[in-house]
Amino acid sequence: MKLTAILGSPRAGGNTDTITSRLLDGAIESGCDVERVALRNLKIRGCIGCDRCWQNGKKCAIDDDMTALYDTVAGSDILLFSTPVYWYAPTAIMKAFIDRFVIFNRPLGKPLIEGKSAIIITAYEEGGPGAAEPMLDMFRLSFDYLGVKLIDTVIADGLGPKDAISGKPDVLEKAYKLGLSLR
Ligand SMILES: Cc1cc2nc3c(=O)[nH]c(=O)nc-3n(C[C@H](O)[C@H](O)[C@H](O)COP(=O)(O)O)c2cc1C
Repeated sequence: MKLTAILGSPRAGGNTDTITSRLLDGAIESGCDVERVALRNLKIRGCIGCDRCWQNGKKCAIDDDMTALYDTVAGSDILLFSTPVYWYAPTAIMKAFIDRFVIFNRPLGKPLIEGKSAIIITAYEEGGPGAAEPMLDMFRLSFDYLGVKLIDTVIADGLGPKDAISGKPDVLEKAYKLGLSLR
């Protein structure tokens, strides 16, 4: 089982990174082949809507760090999307990454992503579930559209400072157990 974790926080070692690492601890223990992709270290532009990828056999018109990631996504069984809530949405680097999935929506691209599983990890400062909902809806609708199955989420509210997650062992335990369950 190949699991690729897409780290979408610009803040290295923050709450979503820590939750993701805990899930990956469990996944490695359960025998998954794990890869981490930290979007903050890459240059990925948003889609420019040129439709080039819809012309038979053509690649994305933008040649940047996303070029190699298309193969990474296609070669994964599980895609883990890890992003804090930024203004009730994913971070800009995560949104740019997802925008480039247009290539998976064309007829030749659909089989490359259809049937894969996904996990969402998020953290945010406000209390209660509401602040994450618009972002979760975006993911749910996009997964449905692409034929990707959302297997679970790890959601942590009330987290502002970088290490605030250390006060939520229950969230880290849920992440670890979810990782362990992936085989
Ligand atoms: C630009 C920006 C926008 C944010 N927007 C929200 C928001 O809309 N709602 C919220 O509850 N927290 C918001 N936050 C707080 C972060 O979601 C929170 O600090 C989170 O724990 C950061 O995750 P990280 O440590 O993995 O980077 C925002 C933070 C930043 C920097």
